[in-house]
Amino acid sequence: MSVPTLTLNDGTKIPQLGLGVWQMQDDEAPGIILSALNAGYRHIDTAAAYGNEAGVGRGIAESDVPREEVFVTSKLWNDRQGYDAALRAFDETMGKLGFDYLDLYLIHWPMPAQDRYVDSWKALIRLREEGRIRAIGVSNFLPDHLERLLDETGKAPAINQIELHPYFQQAKQREVHAKLGIATECWSPLGQGEALSDPILTEIASRYGKSAAQVILRWQVQLGLVTIPKSANHDRMRENISIFDFELTEAEMAQIKGLDSADGRIGPDPATADF
Ligand SMILES: NC(=O)c1ccc[n+]([C@@H]2O[C@H](COP(=O)([O-])OP(=O)(O)OC[C@H]3O[C@@H](n4cnc5c(N)ncnc54)[C@H](OP(=O)(O)O)[C@@H]3O)[C@@H](O)[C@H]2O)c1
Repeated sequence: MSVPTLTLNDGTKIPQLGLGVWQMQDDEAPGIILSALNAGYRHIDTAAAYGNEAGVGRGIAESDVPREEVFVTSKLWNDRQGYDAALRAFDETMGKLGFDYLDLYLIHWPMPAQDRYVDSWKALIRLREEGRIRAIGVSNFLPDHLERLLDETGKAPAINQIELHPYFQQAKQREVHAKLGIATECWSPLGQGEALSDPILTEIASRYGKSAAQVILRWQVQLGLVTIPKSANHDRMRENISIFDFELTEAEMAQIKGLDSADGRIGPDPATADF
């Protein structure tokens, strides 16, 4: 069963489930990408900071799947923010990937203390106007950062990639996205493995002959989110994409909603993150 797509605010279509490749070595990336493409993945999430853009590009080039059938995201790292610096960083990313266009480019973190994300955003707008990127977005942006982009450029991001898993559900942030027409993408969608032994999730999973990971990913898809679980293991990759043959009930969606926790965040707080 193929992965459904979401249409972003600029008309770009993104597969709702992709493979995250954080913490994969550049030299292991081509093999993992080939394995993912064989399992049916057509969406890969990398970043300059992951150090594996070259391996991701090589994996796609070496596969039988045409480049235009794979949706690839990369991200601008924090030390390359600013208008000119972002343009140069994008050229380097494209050189490493070996592509002549990118599907989605994100500002990785707002880094409010640097105060350069509006200039970085203007560079991304230019790259999109030049046809070098299909869609542009952000990651880890809080509502006030999003409002500022809109106020100063009139252009809303297509997507905001944020930490989102059963123990950190970001309901208020999702409401802001919906109001502004911004899609929500979940990073660490499995809570980096933390939520997989949760008794509520394992109980729901057993009803369908599925795993807790599959229930989490299905919950995210049914909420209308984009999700990018990471696995370097072929069997778990297959497991994670095999979620389009069952449906959670409203009662089960409500049970999972109840797992949200005010202190469930795993990663840094974007309001203060400075690295
Ligand atoms: N924008 C940002 O700031 C940001 C931050 C963090 C992450 N991300 C993106 O989000 C992606 C995913 O996040 P993540 O890598 O932090 O965590 P994650 O996807 O929530 O969890 C990955 C962990 O779960 C394991 N796993 C995967 N599928 C499994 C399954 N079916 N059963 C049991 N274990 C399973 C993986 O191990 P195996 O590999 O051994 O299967 C790995 O240890 C990243 O790769 C990256 O692309 C973005």
